[in-house]
Amino acid sequence: MQSEKRENWSSRSGFILAAVGSAVGLGNIWRFPYVAYENGGGAFLIPYLIALLTAGLPLLYLDYVIGQRFKGAPPTAYKRLVKSAEPIGWWQVLVATVIAIYYASVLNWAGNFMLFSFGQQWGENPEEFFFNAYLQNADGVLFEVVPHLFIGLVIVWAIALLILYGGVKRGLEIANKIFIPLLMLTFVLLVIQAARLPGAIDGLNAFFTPSWSAMKSPEVWLAAYGHIFFSLSIGFGIMVTFASYLKRNANLTGSGLVVGLANSSFELLAGIGVFAALGYMAHATGSPISEVVGGGIGLAFIAFPKLISTLGSKGDLVGFLFFGSLVFAGISSMVSILEVPIAAFKDKFGWSRNKSVTVVGGVSAIISIALFSSKSAITFVDIIDNFANNIGIVVGAILSIIWITWFNRRLIPQLTQHINAISSLKVGKLWVFMLSIVTPLSLIVALVMTLKSLLTEGYGGYSVMTQIIYGWGVVAVFAIGALLFTFMKRKKGESK
Ligand code: ALA
Repeated sequence: MQSEKRENWSSRSGFILAAVGSAVGLGNIWRFPYVAYENGGGAFLIPYLIALLTAGLPLLYLDYVIGQRFKGAPPTAYKRLVKSAEPIGWWQVLVATVIAIYYASVLNWAGNFMLFSFGQQWGENPEEFFFNAYLQNADGVLFEVVPHLFIGLVIVWAIALLILYGGVKRGLEIANKIFIPLLMLTFVLLVIQAARLPGAIDGLNAFFTPSWSAMKSPEVWLAAYGHIFFSLSIGFGIMVTFASYLKRNANLTGSGLVVGLANSSFELLAGIGVFAALGYMAHATGSPISEVVGGGIGLAFIAFPKLISTLGSKGDLVGFLFFGSLVFAGISSMVSILEVPIAAFKDKFGWSRNKSVTVVGGVSAIISIALFSSKSAITFVDIIDNFANNIGIVVGAILSIIWITWFNRRLIPQLTQHINAISSLKVGKLWVFMLSIVTPLSLIVALVMTLKSLLTEGYGGYSVMTQIIYGWGVVAVFAIGALLFTFMKRKKGESK
């Protein structure tokens, strides 16, 4: 079988747009404001910026140089870098696949709520609406299909796979050109609307007022590091894969800086919009801001509808802008996550793009639809999101960094030289120090603390069996799958 020629981005801006489209996603709009608030409000911004500079950008550059230099999705690129690293690549591929599988579910909710905004269909009690009328949430695990969730998921997967069949230029680039401007438009309008509401200033005070004592707590720092990886789409294969479509002379660090700054600016804007809205809600209901903030998922699907309901008929537009922003940001991230396994199978087994999208996308879609059209969708999202992020991404990032900077130190000069030969912004000792000392040590501390709390306290109050199957089971899939795919035979004639 003649394998297809590797695709390229059509231009530097095509790549930057794709990387921004991937980074800016559901994580920026509902996760960041909530995590920031929980971790000291304004005090969080300082650890967040430090995490961006000391861990986010260094790892972003590492992902870029591996993908661009070794021209492959993680398993192939890592293997070409150092033969023993292929399983790390597959671990990251499996993490990305699992994230795509539940990301589709949250995207589906956002799409449905965008429509529910017209006429504010959640009625008087958004909490009751979200859990009971919409999700039909069961106590414990119940595989009974909720028809409207099923239909929505089929549509989400159909759109994602259609974009992915188009490939790099005719799929991903076109999708970004449509969804990023739409997102900018809806989001800027939303932030302007939110900032003009009475009480908005109180929300912004809550967001920007530093609580210095919070900065002394290690959890705040761990939350900052954890969020940066998810938000920048690093450590789980996306940026390695995207960089593999760059041309030989691409400016890696210059583009990386643009992507990092764009992502964080958007995130801060999201914080401003959401907190202005929460300030208004506190003002309207007479309760303190701390009481109107729900959990991460609740913030988007319960607190926002509550807010919208207080705005009268103008609320329809605000709802459409908010949930529209989630949808537009989410689609470009969803396809970027799914591109990782699609490219990985294509690279290793010499499949055509069409075959890889059909097989990898098809299997992922079936699992996603089966789990997330059930009456336990939110339980699965909650558990899988926690284990895939806090263990999957963190372990994947630690392994790749340690494997290269600790166990194969001789590779560092080669990577540094490569970056510097083609990039405007040179990297040197500082980059190596951050990457080999600061980032891995902070990640290891984060991981040990996460494992300690998961093993002693469990997660989310779910039954032990449910946590074992859907939480630890997912981690087992990463580990077993990583070894299994490494030992499967690669296609004939594939360069090692
Ligand atoms: N980086 C993407 C997000 O923030 C995955 O949602």
